[in-house]
Amino acid sequence: MAIKFSTPTQNARILSVGAYRPPRVVPNSELVERIDSSDEWIQQRTGIQTRHWAAEDESVTDMAVKASRIAIERAGLTPQDIDTIIFATITYPYQTPSASTEVALQLEIKNAAAFDVGAACAGFSYSLGLANDMLRSGSAKYVLVIGAEKISDFLDLDDRATSFIFADGAGAVVVGPSDEVRIGATLSGSDVENRDAIAMIPSWTAYKPGSAITETAWPVIHQEGQKVFRWAVYEIAKVGKEVIASSGLTPADIAAFIPHQANERIIDSLAKSMDLPDSVVIARDIRTTGNTSAASIPLAMDALLAEHPELHGKNALLIGFGAGLVYAGQVVELPPQPK
Ligand code: UT7
Repeated sequence: MAIKFSTPTQNARILSVGAYRPPRVVPNSELVERIDSSDEWIQQRTGIQTRHWAAEDESVTDMAVKASRIAIERAGLTPQDIDTIIFATITYPYQTPSASTEVALQLEIKNAAAFDVGAACAGFSYSLGLANDMLRSGSAKYVLVIGAEKISDFLDLDDRATSFIFADGAGAVVVGPSDEVRIGATLSGSDVENRDAIAMIPSWTAYKPGSAITETAWPVIHQEGQKVFRWAVYEIAKVGKEVIASSGLTPADIAAFIPHQANERIIDSLAKSMDLPDSVVIARDIRTTGNTSAASIPLAMDALLAEHPELHGKNALLIGFGAGLVYAGQVVELPPQPK
């Protein structure tokens, strides 16, 4: 007996975006002493002026719930309409149960498919691609896609390569049915030879990812900044060009560029290498938000739409890249202005 695939296919779009930034603003001046740095150096090398850190008692899922509530309301839906929750994060401190199920519990979403995605700074773009594919295969109707991080819990404040870069926050989008294609195909991949370039490791040991953990210690994030920088600048520009072409578009059809907010110099270099016209509005949320890994693209999307309401409904190129090293990107139509 042949297996029948009975669910109807449907196009998808981003219906709405919501964001949550914890109230505590941390200026560079608060961090520089411990790493022998300066506000000027950090701004010149990364673009970061300030970032937000969550309060001690504010969890990554608390932040995610706040961003999700906004996204769901802006979509004109209620939490009970959501049938799938995908949560991209690297800072939820439990292997299981998942962060997505905690969001379901807090928002009283019943019977939804719920799972987490661990693709670091590319996690949001991977998850958005999955949501699109789930709608296209008919296995979901309203997907809540969350990117949220509390990286301040996993920082070594004496590490010159990370302490001033990473930050906290949450962003969420609701993906739902569309009359036309409004999310292009997701291009994703990896460069696993550079797998160790960014890693969350116990702070006291030369632990190698994949080997047995014999003793426990609180993990902190490490990175080989230059290696990641070079990879991002050379490899991700090629990915971006391919993403645009695979959507049947040219750079002239793109209104906004919302890459992962890792370093403003990487953002500038990518825009140049991809020949994006000057008319393209570039997200520079990193300046006041820092690098929030999986949260950075939805946070930057929300900030860009607040600053440029004319971009609602226009095409944007999204690209996430980071630890793994992994990447994912797609062209999307930005959500309509909320009613
Ligand atoms: O989200 C995941 C993806 N992550 C990324 O994309 C991160 C990519 N990497 C970066 O953003 C950059 O590599 C960093 C911001 C981490 C570092 O900037 P850099 O321009 O690559 O610095 P560097 O390591 O090449 O060091 C340049 C100089 C050195 O001094 P000398 O040898 O030229 O005298 C360092 O000692 O800057 C010095 N330096 C610092 N000075 C003040 C390195 N770190 C610091 C610091 N403060 N924190």
